Amino acid sequence: MTSTLIRGRTLSFKRAPQSIDDSAAYTYESDGALLIETGRISAAGAYATVKAAAPEGVAEIDHRPHLIVPGFIDTHLHFPQMQVMASYAANLLEWLNTYTFPEECRFVETAHAERIAKHFFDEMVRHGTTTATAYCSVHKTSADAFFAESLRRGMCMVAGKVMMDRNAPQGLLDTPEMSYDETRAVIAEWHGKGRNHVAITPRFAITSTPEQMEVTKSLVREFPKLHVQTHLSENRDEIAFTCELFPEAKDYTDVYARYGLLGRKSLFGHCIHLSEREADAMSETGSVAVFCPTSNLFLGSGLFPLGALTRRQKPVRVSVASDIGGGTSYSMLKTLDEAYKILQLQGERLNPFDSFYMMTRGNAEALSLADRIGTLEPGSDADLTVLDMAATPAMALRAEVVNSLADELFLLQTMGDDRAVAETYVAGTPAKSALGPN
Ligand code: GUN
Ligand code: ZN
Repeated sequence: MTSTLIRGRTLSFKRAPQSIDDSAAYTYESDGALLIETGRISAAGAYATVKAAAPEGVAEIDHRPHLIVPGFIDTHLHFPQMQVMASYAANLLEWLNTYTFPEECRFVETAHAERIAKHFFDEMVRHGTTTATAYCSVHKTSADAFFAESLRRGMCMVAGKVMMDRNAPQGLLDTPEMSYDETRAVIAEWHGKGRNHVAITPRFAITSTPEQMEVTKSLVREFPKLHVQTHLSENRDEIAFTCELFPEAKDYTDVYARYGLLGRKSLFGHCIHLSEREADAMSETGSVAVFCPTSNLFLGSGLFPLGALTRRQKPVRVSVASDIGGGTSYSMLKTLDEAYKILQLQGERLNPFDSFYMMTRGNAEALSLADRIGTLEPGSDADLTVLDMAATPAMALRAEVVNSLADELFLLQTMGDDRAVAETYVAGTPAKSALGPN
């Protein structure tokens, strides 16, 4: 068995921090080490202790003085939108119709889907993101290209073929029958292969007929352990149009509830404008509201009420995500930087421990995958991100006066991006340095 000892400062969360002083929420080692065996962390702790228990002559990689954290997790993005990022639109529906739908039509071509998939995984690794929950396009070819590339790289990914059968260009529509057959085929071919997880993925209520929503209901009944992902309550015009299309539903959330889509494995992108009734329904079913800060600001969708959703009597589970290509950065550091500002505008704070919890263990728990990813605990897959708080001249200057872990994390989040990621490990293998220079 090949073993590697990775040395550096290590940080891993045990639970959500209650405050900036809640040091019981995490484990930090100022001279720490991880013993990696066959892609998993087999021991973690102080360097001297882990080294003493490691096999004779174990290979060592020394990342001091950098900080080693679990690989970042991004719980909502669109892999066919890499060339949609930075499109000039006034709002969500204009952005979808003018730029996003035409671009996604191109993914009917296998060669195009395969080319973009390679770029997608390169960007993930470059930015320290080791797990993402992705929408492919409506075309099965796009899901095949995505999962094949993920398998090749040994990455833990959640993704689905998008289901959509109305209110979009012809080249981007399936039918209820096709979406059922192709989703089942994607599950049969890819779910559980390597570290791939298939998600049932109706795009949103506007682009699915009631007949297709019935199909999503059947799929969720047939495959109750699979993730479900869709969009909910992102934009006022979107909400109004959805309520027109499903007049029998009490509200937007009730559309999904009627088709059995709420639950602990269900991720709802955005959830900015939920009523109290809708938040209760999310809470009661354990559904996850996905906060997409850079996208919400870019598309002018609104300010995600993180504090209100998590502190209510019936709290809503939350996660955080880039929402590429409505989002404007692949970096989870930048994503949390914008999350901080969104909370500032609501008179709230997001402390840096909370941010780092959210992009690691918090997102793993939202995906019900915390037994495999999101921590540095023995038994976890060895997906790691190595961070350098002095990665740029401006960061190095600021780092001169950093004198606590909280300061360091906040500097990384506020000024950092892919340049602050010194290395990314996927299942114990260095993946960022393997990409070569930028
Ligand atoms: N709602 C439906 N599709 C999309 C999408 O691709 N991006 C965003 N931000 N919202 C959506
Ligand atoms: Zn989205």
